[in-house]
Amino acid sequence: MSKVIRAVNVSKTFKVGAETVTAVDNISFEVERGEIFGIIGLSGAGKSTLVRTLNLLERPTSGQIFINDTDLTRAGIKDLRLARRKIGMIFQHFNLLMQRNIIDNVCFPMEIQKIKRRDALERAYKLLEVVGLSDKAKAYPSQLSGGQKQRVAIARALASNPEIILCDEATSALDPQTTRSVLDLLRKINEELGITIIVITHEMSVVRDICNRVLVLENGAVAENSTVDELFKHPRSQAAKDLLLIRNVDDKRRAI
Ligand SMILES: Nc1ncnc2c1ncn2[C@@H]1O[C@H](COP(=O)(O)OP(=O)(O)OP(=O)(O)O)[C@@H](O)[C@H]1O
Ligand SMILES: [Mg+2]
Repeated sequence: MSKVIRAVNVSKTFKVGAETVTAVDNISFEVERGEIFGIIGLSGAGKSTLVRTLNLLERPTSGQIFINDTDLTRAGIKDLRLARRKIGMIFQHFNLLMQRNIIDNVCFPMEIQKIKRRDALERAYKLLEVVGLSDKAKAYPSQLSGGQKQRVAIARALASNPEIILCDEATSALDPQTTRSVLDLLRKINEELGITIIVITHEMSVVRDICNRVLVLENGAVAENSTVDELFKHPRSQAAKDLLLIRNVDDKRRAI
């Protein structure tokens, strides 16, 4: 299988006053086309910073990011724009435009790409069907539940026909049942459209539910890179053991 994403010795540091914070510390990993790939770690482990380097929203301090063999760190503005179009993104707080209705939120990326209004609308309605929200086209974000807003964000991410979708804590603001339905939708998109999905989370249950493979981060570095089965059966790193322990405590709390 071809590698759709390849990160090679990626580091990202921030200057904070006189200090230098290392958010991502020499990370390398590869993602195969069609995978659902998890990135997990405690708060501050570097997950968001790492994922933002993948589309160069955050330029790595050193190292390289290859998307389909194009090195984004060396790409010119035009190639970078084309590569970014292939990478959709969804976030914990949805980031919808509150003053636009749902159909116009989904049309937004197509407007930027200067796609004709009629074609954009046609595609947006199809995408609302994919995410099960055809009846909400004219509603405004404030009129939707969290799960529905995330579905709109997924439809918007699909609008530019991405090969990859990056999900940064996409279900962290949702209750367990809604989380499950959003994860089911992501799995459907992965299976039916063949889109590679990167899932960033601090919840082991999310990893268990949809990921094939997972990268465990600790203090900006890779603690473990394995299949989900291996991670649950034989966690090797302390970071993974800690995350599994937190999951068990959460499960018990829910059971009470
Ligand atoms: N723009 C920035 N300037 C300075 N430090 C930053 C910046 N962005 C991130 N950091 C630091 O880098 C580290 C990693 O942050 P990051 O947001 O990537 O963690 P995270 O794993 O996504 O955490 P969370 O689970 O809380 O979202 C943290 O110590 C954070 O304070
Ligand atoms: Mg984060």
